[in-house]
Parts: sequence; structure tokens; C-alpha cells
Amino acid sequence: MATQATTFATVRQAVAGSLLLLWTGCTDLGTGPDPALQAPEPPVSFSQEIFPVFQDHCISCHGLNGDLSLERYEYLMAGTSIHGPVVLPGNGKGSLLVRVLRGEALPVIPRMPLGLPPLDDETIGRIELWIDQGAKNN
Ligand code: HEC
Repeated sequence: MATQATTFATVRQAVAGSLLLLWTGCTDLGTGPDPALQAPEPPVSFSQEIFPVFQDHCISCHGLNGDLSLERYEYLMAGTSIHGPVVLPGNGKGSLLVRVLRGEALPVIPRMPLGLPPLDDETIGRIELWIDQGAKNN
């Protein structure tokens, strides 16, 4: 009996395990390979790579006058009074900063940069990766 019970538990575990695999496999569709299986990416630098994008495409509107200022790392991380944080360290995809660049916050917030051509996918991907890596002031 004890052996049977153990076997049953093992089978159940195995089934649950493969279902979980199946499930995580499905969520990966369209988002590329599991990042855990890829070689770790070298860190994205805020000052070298991210801030210059803000300077070129955003600061004309997000200077020191509006709600969200992109003039300094601290202001970016402070977020906005209405929408709260725009950067969720470790969660690039879910961060409002990335979502507005992809037009995913529509219709509440228009795609950024407002009224201008969207940033290319690669640039948005670098911002997303920087946030995934902890959104450090590096
Ligand atoms: C032409 C002006 C303009 C430019 C350029 C611009 N924005 Fe905006 N942005 C706005 C306005 C206006 C809002 C508020 C929209 C609303 O809430 O309806 C906004 C809202 C946002 C928000 C949501 C938080 C908030 O303050 O409401 C984020 C995040 C944002 N912009 C990021 C960016 C980024 C990143 C860039 C550069 C790639 C950029 N914006 C370029 C005008 C601009």
C-alpha cells in the first residue's frame, strides 16, 4: 500500500510538473526563448544608453515643468502624481514607461513620444532590459 501511495504521489507530481511546463511554455509564445536559458546580458547603463534617449526624444515635453520629469534619474523613479510609478524595477514589460512607448496604455495614455514617430523596437527593448535588470542609476 505504502509503495502504491508513493507511486501515485510521484505520478501526480510528474503530471503537475509537465502541466506547469506546458503552461509556462505557452506563455512564452511570441515572447522569445526563456530569458533564464539565455546567457546573462551585460548591464544596460542608464547614463550611457537610457538617458540620452530621453534627451533626444522626451525632454522637450518632460522637462521640469510637467508632472513627469525625465531630466534626472531621481525624477523618473519618483513617477507621477496621477499615475504613480512609471518604472517597476525588475518588471520592464509591466512598467508604464515601456507600455507607453509600445502604445499599450491606450486609450488612457497616448503612445509616446506624443505626436512623434515611435521609438524603434530595439531601443524600447533596451529600456525594458534596463528595468528588468533593476533600473539602477548606473
Ligand atoms: C510632444 C510632447 C511629448 C513628448 C515628446 C513625450 N511626451 Fe510623454 N507625455 C506627454 C503628455 C502631454 C503626457 C500626458 C498624457 C496624458 O496623460 O493624457 C505624457 C505622458 C507620459 C507618460 C505617462 C505618465 C504621465 O506623466 O502622465 C509617460 C511614462 C511618458 N509620457 C513618457 C514619455 C517618454 C519616455 C517620452 C520619450 C520617448 C515621451 N513621453 C515623450 C507629452 C510628451
